[in-house]
Amino acid sequence: MSQIVINGAKALSGEINIQGAKNSVLPVLAATILCDKECHVHNCPDLSDVNTSIKILKQLGCKCARQGNTVSVDSSDMNNYKIPENLMREMRSSVVFLGAIVGKTGKAVISSPGGCELGPRPIDLHLSALNKMGVCIREEHGFLYCDAPEGLYGAEINLSFPSVGATENIILAAVKAKGMTVIHNAAKEPEISDLADFLNSAGARIYGAGSDTVYIHGVEKLSATEHSIIPDRIAAVTYMASAVMTNGKIVINDIMPSHMMAMLSLFYESGCNLKIYKNSLEISRGDKLLRVPKIRSLVYPGFPTDAGPIIISMLTLADGTSMFVENIFENRFRYIDELKRLGAKIKTEGKIAVIEGVSQLLGAPCKATDLRGGAALVCAGLAAKDTTVIGEIGHIERGYENLVDNFKKLGADIYYR
Ligand code: UD1
Repeated sequence: MSQIVINGAKALSGEINIQGAKNSVLPVLAATILCDKECHVHNCPDLSDVNTSIKILKQLGCKCARQGNTVSVDSSDMNNYKIPENLMREMRSSVVFLGAIVGKTGKAVISSPGGCELGPRPIDLHLSALNKMGVCIREEHGFLYCDAPEGLYGAEINLSFPSVGATENIILAAVKAKGMTVIHNAAKEPEISDLADFLNSAGARIYGAGSDTVYIHGVEKLSATEHSIIPDRIAAVTYMASAVMTNGKIVINDIMPSHMMAMLSLFYESGCNLKIYKNSLEISRGDKLLRVPKIRSLVYPGFPTDAGPIIISMLTLADGTSMFVENIFENRFRYIDELKRLGAKIKTEGKIAVIEGVSQLLGAPCKATDLRGGAALVCAGLAAKDTTVIGEIGHIERGYENLVDNFKKLGADIYYR
């Protein structure tokens, strides 16, 4: 199963339930190690990144079991504070374990995460915050050695950029630190609120998550808890864009529309028909798919960078020229050369992509360069005439549960080869 094959140009129809959010489940699984008793995390999607997190938890000495979409973690016998290099390499976001491990044991050793397919991804903000909280950090031979000889203590932290990962790591390190931590200019993404909800349900005292300023009063103990992961807003948008691009009509269930406002506005702007309900929506294309003159990726509640590739893919079929400005990551356009193989007309310069709509895409062999870029190719392949073969699909499986089966259920001719 190393390729996805799509015989495209078939209108999608039907209903789909949206998986739990990848970007929420990873920090929540890391947070389970701070609890003294067994925790049950529901609505965990079956993804390779989740499996890597489970491997990390087991490596640290936690007991983990998965039953359906519930992952149970008991960290009471945790006896290790090192994440081996191979697991760090499998998933760059394993850096979110740093705050949790050091918060639990006062020590941590991880390999430096380095760059990834989106360009350099420094963790300087994570490290300087931990340092302010009493963690001494030494980098040697590609590893980070973290040690808090006096234990962790609360601190006032001003983030120069509202980094999602840094906000998560600081919260994780602060929940059991001595005293109060304040994060100014914190990330406001729904995944931050989900992490805080999980921790608060276990007895943490976190206030203001989801706003600019987060206050964390350290507590001594966190107890057993149960929590259900929020829906994946980026997976939702992927299915929506596919329906629009194939001129279909679908209903997506188990979503939180309030987490998706910037993306929903864009579908309205491009002339789509949208009916929005409490936890579901129906979408189809309007008479024409209209161009969107300018979209800029921004931190939440702005337009999310992760939805950029999917929306760019959709706008390749718009009536006219659209522009996307990528403001969060430096090197996010690698998949665009692959989209062009299907006949997309896109020019990039620096952080700007100019997308000139075409009337039809044509199937072609291509390869996923990263998770969301890979999803953009799937959307394009579903819309394209004839056959598209997508290679290097491991990237896609990091973030989409049952992608191929879900599209089959919606009427697509898609399979693994
Ligand atoms: C998370 C998401 C990712 C999403 C991103 C932005 C997970 C697993 N990943 O990534 O899908 O695209 O948020 O919404 O949740 N930066 C620094 N120094 C730091 C930290 C970040 O310069 O110490 C920069 C990064 O290079 C990047 C920007 O800040 O340019 C945003 O990064 P950040 O918000 O930290 O993203 P991640 O947490 O890595």
